[in-house]
Amino acid sequence: MKFNIGVIAGDGIGPEITDEAWKVLLKVGQVYGHEFVRTDILMGGCSIDACGEPLTQEAIDTAKAQDAVLMGSIGGNTSTSPWYKLPPEKRPEAGLLKIRKELGLFANLRPAYLYPQLAEACPLRSEVAKEGFDMLIMRELTGGLYFGDRYTKEVDGLMTAVDTLSYNETEIRRIAKRAFDVALKRRKKVTSVDKANVLDSSRLWRKITEEVAKDYPEVELSHMLVDNAAMQLVKDPAQFDVILTENMFGDILSDEASMVTGSIGMLASASLNESKFGLYEPSGGSAPDIAGQGIANPLATILSAAMMLRFSFDLDKEADAIEDAVRALLDDGIRTGDILPQSGDLTGITQVGTSGMGDAVCDRI
Ligand code: IPM
Ligand code: MG
Repeated sequence: MKFNIGVIAGDGIGPEITDEAWKVLLKVGQVYGHEFVRTDILMGGCSIDACGEPLTQEAIDTAKAQDAVLMGSIGGNTSTSPWYKLPPEKRPEAGLLKIRKELGLFANLRPAYLYPQLAEACPLRSEVAKEGFDMLIMRELTGGLYFGDRYTKEVDGLMTAVDTLSYNETEIRRIAKRAFDVALKRRKKVTSVDKANVLDSSRLWRKITEEVAKDYPEVELSHMLVDNAAMQLVKDPAQFDVILTENMFGDILSDEASMVTGSIGMLASASLNESKFGLYEPSGGSAPDIAGQGIANPLATILSAAMMLRFSFDLDKEADAIEDAVRALLDDGIRTGDILPQSGDLTGITQVGTSGMGDAVCDRI
């Protein structure tokens, strides 16, 4: 079959890691007889440099015309890059928020899984790490604080900044349904994370989530306050199956979840709309400090490409092939620098760079 894929390489390590994911897709195409057609799309700092804005209308239209979009990462060093001297709506991140909104990508799936082979890279105590964990964060992506009214102005002689956290019941219901649907295919547990002891938006979140739960009697729903969830993620990550949460909490908890897997370089993500369309990107950032050195871990992007095959193209067998290849290379001791054993014992370990890791995946497909 033929699939059109928009590729947003972006900034920092983005181009390096997307090239490896593309290499893997081409290998999958060759082995399983599919044609993947690549159309590059500018977004982020590179788009600011080329077009004066982080995401042009042309880029949005091109993205919409694809079957799916694969993204690397956008943004630069917020203290030193000239991009961060621009007004907020002209900065790289504004492009990402705009594409999420324009494409209606309200459901952000971030699976965090501890590969047994990487237990040694996990910063948690070994008693905790040895239990393993396999969770999926279902983060609402087009509402909440990220998209509410915001302004900074003088009030009573004092500079005052306001951000608004708002959710309506439709926004909550549709993401809750996604969480329950995916839980049905997993261990049938949803932990809804909120701050219902303080926030009205969280109290509505709880109420609607409970309503949705009535349609899923097989799934067990529990609620957890976000501060407690942050603690439980490092204390006992094995308790979680699907974590359902709003935009900002999901942003924070997903970075935390990724780090307990050993490295943010392992965490894939899918941002989906109501249909099969999705934007697939690693959960990590553009890592400007290591950009261009050929040492970034491309596995999160490669695993995001696998999610694209599964969710947007219904190519389960091909997605399995990529995920199996990743497990196999970890078994074979292949590691980028970020996932080396913390003990420093490198017996049986081969350290590779970005392209070496891409090759290692291709060789096993
Ligand atoms: C993420 C990122 C983005 C977010 C930034 C770059 C705007 O941190 O995808 O988690 O906060 O959503
Ligand atoms: Mg984030």
